[in-house]
Formats: sequence, C-alpha cells, structure tokens
Amino acid sequence: MKVIAINGSPRKDGNTYLALKTACDILNAEGIETEIVNVGALNITGCKACGACANAGKCVINDGFNEIAEKAAAADGIIVGTPVYYAGVNGTLKSFLDRFFYVHSSKMRFKPAAALTALRRSGVTHTYQTIYNFFTIAEMLITPTSYWPGVHGRLKGEAEQDLEGMQVARGIGRNMAYLLKLQAASNIPVPEKEPKEMFNYIR
Ligand SMILES: Cc1cc2nc3c(=O)[nH]c(=O)nc-3n(C[C@H](O)[C@H](O)[C@H](O)COP(=O)(O)O)c2cc1C
Repeated sequence: MKVIAINGSPRKDGNTYLALKTACDILNAEGIETEIVNVGALNITGCKACGACANAGKCVINDGFNEIAEKAAAADGIIVGTPVYYAGVNGTLKSFLDRFFYVHSSKMRFKPAAALTALRRSGVTHTYQTIYNFFTIAEMLITPTSYWPGVHGRLKGEAEQDLEGMQVARGIGRNMAYLLKLQAASNIPVPEKEPKEMFNYIR
C-alpha cells in the first residue's frame, strides 16, 4: 500500500512539509509506504479549460504536472498539504488540484484522503474545506483526526512547537492507516457509479 503526500508549499522543508512528514512517519510505522512530492516548487499553471484531457486521458500541458498526477492517481491514499495563503490554499496547489481532479477523479473513488494545512494564525477552516471539496466530489473517504487539520507556525520549523497540531497530523497518519487496512481486509466491492446526468440549468 502506498500513500502520496502532496506538498503545495514553495518552501520544500517548511511547516507544511513538517506536518506531512509527521503523518507519513506514522503511516510508515504502520507498514504503509509513503512519498512526499513537492508541487509548490514547480511552475504548475492553471487549468486552461481546453478539454483535451477528456481524449488524452492526461493533461496536455507539459509542466511537470502529469508525472506527479500519475503517481497520485495510482496511490491507495493521498494527503494534500498546503500553507494557508490569505485564508485559502496556495495558488500552485489550487492549479494542481483543479487539473488533477478534472483528469483523475474516477480513479480516486473511495480512496482515503486527508488535508493538512500550515498557518501562522487564521484561515484554517476555509482552507481545509476547499481541499475537502475536491475529495467529496471525487467520492473519496475523508480521514478524520482529533481537531481540524492545521499546524501553527510562521518560520520554517516553528510548527514543531505546536504540540496539538503535531498530534492532529499523527492522527491523520494513524487513522488513514486504519482505513487502508480496513479496505485491504474487505472483499466488499465499491458501489457502482451511475452514468452522470449533466444538467446545466439551461432549457
Ligand atoms: C502570501 C502569504 C499569505 C499568507 N496568508 C496567511 C493567512 O491568511 N493566514 C495565516 O495564518 N498565515 C498566512 N501566511 C503564513 C503562512 O501560512 C505560514 O508561514 C505557514 O507556516 C507557511 O507554511 P510553509 O512553511 O509550509 O510554507 C501567509 C504567508 C504568505 C507567504
């Protein structure tokens, strides 16, 4: 079993990384492989709404997105990490998520998913809920933890001092491992998906 953790922060080893690493260490201790990939360091552009992915099965923009997206789509679970920027996800991560879920949603159904955010002071609720919006429309299972998923700190490494935040991150690791093991032990197939009705409110 493998979990991909996506780090939206341009600070490769900042507070978002710390939170993701904390969750991944627990997953590793539970026997689950992890990989943290840094999206924030790349120049991931926004979705162009060209629709070419519908035929290509992948995004046609060549900016490093597809390599990471394919890894995430093949994983058994994903953790999406972002620094809080103006009470929301950071721009590069939003570009990645728009494109990722537009192409790969169908491969993510019923896989465990979690959000982790890093912030100095406020904006956590809107930020993790933005990430949850992607998870729920893709019919993913949101991994619960002991508090809303934010770790507090401004400068790199400061989040380590947020003992409750680090506990929340460990909870993500432990609870995602539980969900993955439940699925591995089960022979119940995921429900069939009905063909999509597209109703755009136009008569
Ligand atoms: C452009 C920008 C906007 C930010 N906006 C917020 C904010 O709305 N709320 C907040 O608490 N912190 C905000 N911060 C602080 C970062 O969220 C905080 O430093 C966080 O730990 C960064 O995570 P990182 O080390 O993974 O990059 C902002 C930082 C930047 C650079």
